[in-house]
Amino acid sequence: MTRVLVYSSKPHDREFLPAAPAASALDWQFEPGRLTPDTARRAAGFDAACIFVNDCADARTLQVLAECGVRLLALRCAGYDQVDLAAARQLGVAVVRVPAYSPHAVAEHTVALLMALVRRIPQAHRRVRDFDFSHRNLTGFDLHGKMAGIVGTGKIGRIVAQILKGFGMCVRATDPFPSEAWARAHGIEYTDFDTLVATSKVLSLHLPLTAETRNCINAAVLARMPRGSVLVNTGRGGLVETQALIHALKLGHLEGAALDVYAGEAGLFFEDHSGKPLPDDQLSLLLNLPNLLLTAHQGFLTTDALTEIARVTGENLDRFRAGNSFLDGTLL
Ligand code: NAI
Repeated sequence: MTRVLVYSSKPHDREFLPAAPAASALDWQFEPGRLTPDTARRAAGFDAACIFVNDCADARTLQVLAECGVRLLALRCAGYDQVDLAAARQLGVAVVRVPAYSPHAVAEHTVALLMALVRRIPQAHRRVRDFDFSHRNLTGFDLHGKMAGIVGTGKIGRIVAQILKGFGMCVRATDPFPSEAWARAHGIEYTDFDTLVATSKVLSLHLPLTAETRNCINAAVLARMPRGSVLVNTGRGGLVETQALIHALKLGHLEGAALDVYAGEAGLFFEDHSGKPLPDDQLSLLLNLPNLLLTAHQGFLTTDALTEIARVTGENLDRFRAGNSFLDGTLL
């Protein structure tokens, strides 16, 4: 039986992973803590470690995992910026991920954040709960007819683009590998990053975090965004330079920002820190801005996505046990 240690496990992991079709032949153990160089030794005696977005699988951690006998690292997410793939290859640790569990879950959350931001839904909801039915500072803007810029037209970016097109927005996009046929079919135009930044009322990020894309939204880029525009980031926190974003929001240059991810989220997101001082000054500043809307990396959090994550992860672990190849497109 394959022994699997599930790091950063939450109640939904304990519910969905063992219930997956191929999961019965697997011995699941659940570890609430994150994978770090210090916690990697807990995987001693396990065949596989199963990790999520804020675990750390750098070279040092992978070295410890390999010494402990771990031969498979199974990511229950799509992004793999937290893994040193070159080190994993050298150590003989196979790395699999779930490339597309539900792009709809993340795309729909992106649009939910955008709508909530521009129509001031959180503020309005808090107010009516206090029986304050006034409209002070609740004026939003129509999305219809405005320009949306999609950075990255992979699985998620395309769905966001199509939904916004359905709202009657003019949608433009940028991607080093443009999908011209898809764009033509949906009346979406490709342009370069600089033009997109300078002309979009809504800029939405759906590209992976890599050495090249880290801080791609920095002070200079934010300054080129039109006054009164909004930034949406459900990609990865490291795409945006936080200090520069705080500055643009404080100045009022950006009308607002809606984020599901934050550069310093590891160790904070997915945990309840209420009642304790927040150990992150930048996050405190962000949370004090009235034009900032934040959710704690929950774009994937639908029953549909969790079911699919569990299915693909369970099947890959089962194939690993049986010595078969992994599901198509999952091996990194
Ligand atoms: P994907 O791999 O299907 O698409 C990514 C696209 O970005 C590709 O078309 C690629 O060519 C493009 N790209 C790469 N570099 C670029 C650049 N410099 N400029 C513009 N485009 C660039 O990935 P998918 O599934 O659409 O996911 C996108 C990102 O969303 C993931 O990398 C992940 O970081 C994030 N994500 C967030 C989740 C959440 O819960 N908030 C859940 C799942 C993914």
